Amino acid sequence: MFYETAKNDHGLPYNPFKAIVAPRPIGWISAMSAKGEINLAPYSFFNGLTDHPPTVMFASEGRKDSVVFAEETKEFVCNLATWELREPMNETSAPFARGVNEMEKTGLEAARMDLLLYDWLSELIFLKDRDREVFTSCRVRIEGEGPCRLSANVRGGGIDPERTTLGADPKAVTFHQFALERVTDGWRARVVIDI
Ligand SMILES: Cc1cc2nc3c(=O)[nH]c(=O)nc-3n(C[C@H](O)[C@H](O)[C@H](O)COP(=O)(O)O)c2cc1C
Repeated sequence: MFYETAKNDHGLPYNPFKAIVAPRPIGWISAMSAKGEINLAPYSFFNGLTDHPPTVMFASEGRKDSVVFAEETKEFVCNLATWELREPMNETSAPFARGVNEMEKTGLEAARMDLLLYDWLSELIFLKDRDREVFTSCRVRIEGEGPCRLSANVRGGGIDPERTTLGADPKAVTFHQFALERVTDGWRARVVIDI
């Protein structure tokens, strides 16, 4: 079949533009504003683009809340909406006012603290590989328990083979024996790194 999008001359009951790419996975994009407001909405125009560096995207028809929030904090998360979650996923596409948390509206639980730790450690390894930087100290701040946000101040420098001896080169964080538990004065984590 050939048709011109401007003419819409496909002869079908519905515009086939979206259905042509099938199956069509749905990205469930979560983002946070600078003020800490949470947003969650489905975007079928999303994808993984490269794995080195790991790059994901979503495309918005207009400057929707997801875009505005991601621009404010420079972060968004691509979640995959599965068949079991199709109904709440659809509900989060409603045009709620900016600042309304779609996760609360649809009774969803936000990302777990342990996955946040996993992602953050993975990001440090990514920075080591991309920018050739290693870190010797860091101060981590976690806000919230359900929807949570991690910000960190890390100190370090570029890998200089003359001065820096790398005992082992971390390749990835793994879920093998991965555990995070609350203790009286904070959190205790067990993380196995693939080297
Ligand atoms: C299955 C599905 C896929 C969608 N895909 C897109 C998309 O790719 N791009 C887009 O702009 N809107 C898409 N929408 C509509 C947005 O989810 C909707 O406009 C939503 O209100 C945007 O939320 P936000 O303003 O909080 O970002 C989709 C909706 C559904 C139900």
